[in-house]
Parts: sequence; structure tokens; C-alpha cells
Amino acid sequence: MPISHGQNHTVLITGGAGFIGSHVVRKMVMAYPGYLIVNLDKLTYAGNLENLKDVENYPNYRFIKGDIADGYFINDLFSNWNFDGVIHLAAESHVDRSIEEPLEFVKTNVLGTVNLLNASIQNWKKNYERKRFYHISTDEVYGSLGDTGFFSEKTSYKPNSPYSASKASSDHFVRSYGETYGLPYVISNCSNNYGPYQFPEKLIPLFINNIIQNKPLPVYGNGKNTRDWLFVEDHANAIDLVYHKGINKESYNIGGFNERQNIDLVKLLCSLMDKRLFRNEGESEKLITFVKDRPGHDLRYAIDATKINKKLGWKSSVTLEEGLEMTIDWYLANDDWLNHVNSGEYQDYYKMRYKQ
Ligand code: NAD
Ligand code: DAU
Repeated sequence: MPISHGQNHTVLITGGAGFIGSHVVRKMVMAYPGYLIVNLDKLTYAGNLENLKDVENYPNYRFIKGDIADGYFINDLFSNWNFDGVIHLAAESHVDRSIEEPLEFVKTNVLGTVNLLNASIQNWKKNYERKRFYHISTDEVYGSLGDTGFFSEKTSYKPNSPYSASKASSDHFVRSYGETYGLPYVISNCSNNYGPYQFPEKLIPLFINNIIQNKPLPVYGNGKNTRDWLFVEDHANAIDLVYHKGINKESYNIGGFNERQNIDLVKLLCSLMDKRLFRNEGESEKLITFVKDRPGHDLRYAIDATKINKKLGWKSSVTLEEGLEMTIDWYLANDDWLNHVNSGEYQDYYKMRYKQ
């Protein structure tokens, strides 16, 4: 059942200080002044409250610092707030880190999700009218494609990295709470996002940051791995739509039909950066360095987004070239944000803003 818009609707958004979460918080705070938007975030290295400076004083926004892996804290939070809906984005999200520290991914992505599920069913006590648990997941749960084909909602799960295994597990837990306890849920599985406020460990912002500083651009393996790119604001719009109009117990694949081999994407990025930085054409490309491949590196992801398009009327609004130009312009115009991330200063913002 779609849940109706209305006043007095309190939504918990987890991971709202991260990259995608901050776009979702901004979108919901601005679009639904009658809602109360509660952003719960542990503020790991990936959480940055500077992402939300423009909405932090809105009357319908609250921030709470906390860890979803702490079950007692989560139970208290739910009894104090009476949430109507949960949009769950908090996660350890970087594949390379999951290879180094898989247990952190189990704690946050699996245990953290189950804590939220438990608190939801306990708090809602089977009174599920206008309630919804929405898990934001990834196309990586489907594993890797060969040279052709797309992931659809019916593709079976075959995760290859500790990150994707933890997300697949949390998807399964969400689904199982629907079947076992009747929890009203929706899931969406999205392709690679890029855009403003993305932490410079992921391919696109890392390479923008490195090009600005004339540092090497480490391309894994032969650069032929392929990803399907989506501008983050398009993802936030899709999340808004799925939250309000998605059918209970269904999942939706979200993607922009924008596949590129990594090396082609990196060359495009280099050429756009040369123009913006008034460098000679070809200068940034000289920074490309092929490095040892990521273990278990999935070859290709490509999303079939027909269902969300046909059923909910969503489609991506920008081409990859347009989105990349907007992204580059944003990083160049927001050098304060990037400098604070590079220096670590962004981690002081919570104390400065909330603990005076
Ligand atoms: P991110 O790493 O930028 O942000 C994650 C946020 O979660 C951070 O603010 C962090 O502080 C918070 N967090 C981490 N552990 C926490 C914990 N234990 N308790 C509370 N908060 C915690 O991630 P992102 O790229 O914005 O991804 C958000 C969600 O979307 C994730 O669930 C991810 O799996 C999913 N996703 C991401 C992409 C992508 O391309 N980035 C694509 C598809 C799906
Ligand atoms: O597909 C959705 C997923 O996309 C999300 O679920 C993840 O949270 C998100 O991190 C992203 O995963 P990827 O592993 O695809 O993203 P990343 O930016 O790390 O890498 C993109 C591609 O670029 C991948 O093939 C690895 C490659 N790469 C990455 C980095 C950081 C490089 O060649 N060099 C690099 O330095």
C-alpha cells in the first residue's frame, strides 16, 4: 500500500550525514514541511554534517548522533520518538574497506539493520497502518554480469565482496521480517551514485581530488570493469517516490542506463577537468596509473530500471556527461568542503554546531 502524505509524519533517516543520505534528508526536509525528519548517524569517517549546513536550521529537521549497531540505544530511540517510517541508509559502504575489515560491515550493515527491524516491529506492535520500513540497497547484491544483460528485480543474489554479502544479508533480513512479522517494507537496489558531497575515496570524487592536486589516478586492473552511473539527486528523487508510492513487499532496481568502462569514464573525467582547470588537453590523463586489481573485482554492473519507470514513472534526468559536469563544477566551487575533508576538519563540525 502506498503511504499517504500528511502532517505529523515522523521519518527516521539513518545515515543522513553520508553522501546519499544527505541528499535524501535535504529533499525530504524541503519537500515535506509537515513531516519531522530525524537524521540518525554515527558520524563515522564517512559522516559529514557539513553536507547538511543548508537545512540544519529547518524547524522540521533534527539530528541525533548514534550507532545502529547498539540495540539498547536503538530501542530507546524508537520508544522516545514514535517513528511512522524508516528510510535506512546507514552502512559501511566502501568495497575496498570491506576487504580489509569485513566485521565492521557485519556489525553495521547486518546487526545494525536487524536492530532497526526489531525496534520497528516492537514499537509498531502490529499496528502497521501508514508505517513503512524502507531499506536502501545496492545492485552489488546480484554479483557480476558478463559482457551482456542487465540485473532485474528477479535476478538471483550472488554477492562477491564482504560489502555486498552484508547488504544481501540485510536485504534478506528485511524481507524475512515482512514474511514472519508482517512488517511493511520496500527495498531498492541502486547502481553507482556520483555527485556533490561524495567522500573522496570512491572513484569519481577521488579522481577529481587527485587531478586538482596533480596526484596519480590509480585505475584497478586493466580498467575494463564497467559500472552503471547515476547522479545522486536522481537517486534521492527515486527514494522519495519509492517511499511514498512503492508497493509493500516489493523491490525496485534504480539505475540510469549509463554504463561505462572505468577507463573510458576516467578519460572523460580527465578531459572535462582539463577544460575546467584551463590545462592542456591530455594533461590529466598523464596521471592515470594502472595498479593491482581489487580482489574479487566484479566485472560489470548494469541495471534494468524498467519496473520503477513503468510502475512509478521515475527516470534519470541527466546524462552522465551532464552529471559529471555538474559534479566537477560543485567540487571546484566548494573547495572549503573538500579542504575540510582532506584535512579532517569536517569531523569537528558536530562539536562546533551541536555541543556548544
Ligand atoms: P556513505 O558511506 O557516504 O554514508 C554512510 C553513512 O552512514 C555515514 O554518514 C556514516 O556515518 C553512517 N553510518 C555508518 N555506520 C553507522 C552506524 N553504525 N550507525 C549509524 N550511522 C552509521 O554511504 P553512501 O554512499 O551515501 O550510501 C548510503 C546507502 O546507500 C548505503 O546503505 C549503501 O549501501 C547504499 N548504496 C550506495 C550506493 C553508492 O553508489 N554510493 C549505491 C547503491 C546503494
Ligand atoms: O554499485 C553500487 C555500489 O557502488 C555501492 O553499493 C557502493 O556503496 C559504492 O561504493 C559503489 O561500489 P564500487 O566498488 O563500484 O565503487 P568505487 O567507486 O569504489 O569503484 C568504482 C569502480 O572503479 C570499480 O570498478 C573499482 C574502480 N576503482 C575504484 C577506486 C576507488 C579504481 O579503478 N580505482 C580506485 O581508486
